[in-house]
Amino acid sequence: MKNDNIIESTEFKVEMIRKDFPLLTTTVHGKPLVYLDNAATSQKPWDVIKAIENYYAHQNSNIHRGVHYLSQLATEAYEESRKKVAQFINTAHNHEVIFTKGTTDGINLVASSFGRKFIHSGDIIMISTMEHHSNIVPWQLLSEYSGASLSVIPINEKGELLLDQFKSMLNKKVKLVCIAYVSNTLGTVNPVKKIIEISHQYNIPVLIDAAQAIQHLPIDVQELDCDFLVFSGHKMYGPTGIGVLYGKEKWLEDMPPYQGGGDMIKTVSFDKTTYNELPFKFEAGTPNIEAGICLANAIAYIKNIGFDQIHRHEHELLEYATDELLKIAGLKIIGTAAHKASVISFIVDNIHPYDIGLILDKLGIAVRTGHHCTQPLMDFYGIAGTVRASFAFYNTKEEVDQLVSGVKKAVRMLS
Ligand SMILES: Cc1ncc(COP(=O)(O)O)c(C=O)c1O
Repeated sequence: MKNDNIIESTEFKVEMIRKDFPLLTTTVHGKPLVYLDNAATSQKPWDVIKAIENYYAHQNSNIHRGVHYLSQLATEAYEESRKKVAQFINTAHNHEVIFTKGTTDGINLVASSFGRKFIHSGDIIMISTMEHHSNIVPWQLLSEYSGASLSVIPINEKGELLLDQFKSMLNKKVKLVCIAYVSNTLGTVNPVKKIIEISHQYNIPVLIDAAQAIQHLPIDVQELDCDFLVFSGHKMYGPTGIGVLYGKEKWLEDMPPYQGGGDMIKTVSFDKTTYNELPFKFEAGTPNIEAGICLANAIAYIKNIGFDQIHRHEHELLEYATDELLKIAGLKIIGTAAHKASVISFIVDNIHPYDIGLILDKLGIAVRTGHHCTQPLMDFYGIAGTVRASFAFYNTKEEVDQLVSGVKKAVRMLS
């Protein structure tokens, strides 16, 4: 059996791990679910699901506000989770971890707050061809009202950034470089450490969109030396509606608040309001308390498996799926970078990706079809969309086999 090979070669007990994820045992259209849409959102282990239940059954209270027992309990759990996040990405200070709604919210926070203070007419914000819309549109909005403009780092056909061109595009007008660590469409793992090093030679801060990296790679923000880093809880086996903005203290101290409201103030009068210290300055209003607390359970789960194991298993799946899919006549993989995470986008001849996705769905196989919120990247390849299979550590080679036979069936039906 193919799964046994994985267990033997890596001692990674995928079948045991799958038992932790209740939704993986469900059926769809009468077929066992094959969940290959992990880049969109991941499934949740019991540890996270039970922690959410535990919060509402035993801890529910508003945080940072009450002297009463429950409020203290919830506040402690929330702040404990912040410490766990800080340790997970190795921040210098716990208060460099700002809780947000997710990656999109984190990028909008930086665009709004950093943008207001540091980006002016004539300045340049640099992004890349492979960015998700949420790392494009906030910068376009900022450009519209500040008079700044965007410049876009080009890529080659394989879906790799052209670093020489990037270097030649840097100058004093560039005020921020915003780049995905891992492309959600291509799977490309970008050389972000190098990009940060080069940008810093020009004193340009760098924001890393780690939405597709945090679940696959160990991240050390001090080692990377990034200025900002954002990610979402729901893509890393945690709850929806919670995310993290890491920012270097020196930037966060200098940036104005993003939103006004409760918790982000020290004193309010009609004449003057003073703002709270970090991280609360950027956390106006009642947050998603249970998601903030239970993000720590997702982190503990990932740490318990370990990134070595995660990488080994996901990489085996990536290589196996790539080899097997390429045996299908007319299939072309979009995104063939040397360094990839476990994401495969593909097209087959002139068949519409949506039609393939529909047939796969009927077979119980969940993939994503379309532009994956990367329309400019689709324009670069001259295509309307792709089929995307994205693997998590709980996926198996058998599931890859089902995907491949499903695609073959779809191609037969649609050709
Ligand atoms: C690379 C990348 N950036 C940003 C986002 C947006 O994440 P969210 O919708 O959780 O804010 C995604 C989501 O797919 C993504 O893949």
